[in-house]
Amino acid sequence: MIAQLDKLYADFTAKLSTLSTQSDVLNLKSEYMGKKGPLTEVLKGLKDATPDERQKIGPKANEIKQNIGSDIQAKLDGLEVAEINAKLALDPIDTTITDNVLVNDPKHGGLHPITAIQQEVEDIFLSMGFDILDGPHVEDEFHNFEALNIPADHPARDMQDTFWFHGPEVESGKKALLRTHTSTIQIRGMMSRKPPFKFIAPGKVFRCERTDASHEMVFHQLEGMMVGKDVSVANLIYFMKTLLREIFKTDVEVRLRPGFFPFVEPGFELDIRCLICKGEGCSVCKQTGWVELLPCGMVHPNVLRAGGINSDEYNGFAFGLGLDRLVMMRYGIDDIRHIHGADLRFMRQFGAY
Ligand code: DAH
Repeated sequence: MIAQLDKLYADFTAKLSTLSTQSDVLNLKSEYMGKKGPLTEVLKGLKDATPDERQKIGPKANEIKQNIGSDIQAKLDGLEVAEINAKLALDPIDTTITDNVLVNDPKHGGLHPITAIQQEVEDIFLSMGFDILDGPHVEDEFHNFEALNIPADHPARDMQDTFWFHGPEVESGKKALLRTHTSTIQIRGMMSRKPPFKFIAPGKVFRCERTDASHEMVFHQLEGMMVGKDVSVANLIYFMKTLLREIFKTDVEVRLRPGFFPFVEPGFELDIRCLICKGEGCSVCKQTGWVELLPCGMVHPNVLRAGGINSDEYNGFAFGLGLDRLVMMRYGIDDIRHIHGADLRFMRQFGAY
């Protein structure tokens, strides 16, 4: 019987070696491992064997069973690797190619520099635990002004020339407008969560303004807000400095000035040394050598209350980053109108076709 078992295993390995598909191997497996397989057949002879023989046959049969199992698995693994290799050979990926596909493939698009920088800033804030929120372009005067501590007769409304909609008011009975800033999302964000929280909200904003080298009617902001217990100006400065260091990959010279915005108290203007003229004075920095990049401040209690937050218990900071200015500083662009000018010579420098 020992000889029969050896033969059985030899037959098995011979058969296995001729197989080249996984399904054939699986068939062979059920043939040999199944209840009616040759191993069971051989073991039927056990009843006629001497006790001495039985003692040897038991372990031998087990060994063969195990070998068959592991041979099958090894074969299946080998076939899988071969299949992967065959696929790779048909469709090779050359990891040594260094050519820029954007240059070689003229139909290829590229990210607009605003989108690219927005994604970069989002990544920085995501890594610091901020959520990313969105809000509507068509807003109402409650979210754009009133809730931000700018009542109807407040002169601060004149700081932002607004595109108003004529015609029906929005559901709330408030007048509709194109949002003049992303601060509207502060209100939406506060109303939809419980403190502590921190989020950013990037997006387009609209102002009915005369355009020049540093003003456009449509531009981009990225709002940020952090609300919790005992949030301080030091927290605000820490996040702003981290952001600027990550974006410019160097310590940029900054200065903090008092700034007035009705929705913060105290409010600040965070300026950076103009990177276009290196502080010498140019049209972008209006010859001052400094560029206003990051207006910010501690959230006014009225604003917290408008957002449904107990201002005795919680406080927070907010900021409104100008993404267009950031792009201009990063790439040395001296006129904001290039950014949406749709001039292909400009766009091509950022990979657009
Ligand atoms: N919303 C302001 C604007 O567009 C910018 C701003 C200032 C946003 C101070 C803020 C802030 O969050 O704290 O002019």
